[in-house]
Amino acid sequence: MSKRKSDKISDAYRASKNIYDDVLTQDSLLSKAYIRFFWSGTDDNEIARRVLSYIPSDFSGELLDVPVGTAVFTENKWQALSCAKITCLDYSVDMLNQAKARLCDCNHVTFVQGDVGNLQYKNEIFDIVMSMNGFHAFPDKRKAFRETERVLKKGGTFIACFYIKGKSKRTDWLVRNILSKKGWFTPPFPTEEQLLRILHKLYAEVEYHVDGSIVYFKCKK
Ligand SMILES: C[S@@+](CC[C@H](N)C(=O)[O-])C[C@H]1O[C@@H](n2cnc3c(N)ncnc32)[C@H](O)[C@@H]1O
Repeated sequence: MSKRKSDKISDAYRASKNIYDDVLTQDSLLSKAYIRFFWSGTDDNEIARRVLSYIPSDFSGELLDVPVGTAVFTENKWQALSCAKITCLDYSVDMLNQAKARLCDCNHVTFVQGDVGNLQYKNEIFDIVMSMNGFHAFPDKRKAFRETERVLKKGGTFIACFYIKGKSKRTDWLVRNILSKKGWFTPPFPTEEQLLRILHKLYAEVEYHVDGSIVYFKCKK
């Protein structure tokens, strides 16, 4: 990832670290109004719940959570999966520190600063790779798709949710004119058709849903 792009992303997430959880979980009236107006009411809490439901409650293998962010949606699930080995990776040290504070009692969870486009792991070591709200932030999506697939075991599961282009003019406007300019999102963004082509090329099985401008899916390698 180029230094200019990585600085912009790190700065954006450092600046938003105190409001991030509130906006995504719709804790205030203002954040509820923002989600209703710009995201057609698509509820990030509900999407996160559906994505996490793909992971069995007795899962005991190796899981990579990239990017962990502040762990606002994953805290309870990761705490409960005490027999699993969970690696939480993020590029932003500020976000990673908040995740660490949330999960500091969990010996089965480790925290790593890194770039999804250049993962520091050998091939095929994770049973599950999960990427929640990550791909719309990642600057090099081609590398991110390649790397997440590379580190996944054969027969393993890739789970993700993120923004796709072309579903709502209002959301696309927000993403293009505000979120991308601030550095929270990084173009280019795939359309549903482009994404499906990528997933079917990389994975043997694809289970796929769209809610507003957000896609969530589970793929088997
Ligand atoms: C919208 S947040 C999502 C975090 C969390 N999964 C959630 O759902 O709340 C996007 C995250 O992607 C991280 N990020 C951006 N580019 C990255 C990269 N190249 N490698 C790893 N993480 C990256 C940012 O630091 C930020 O924490």
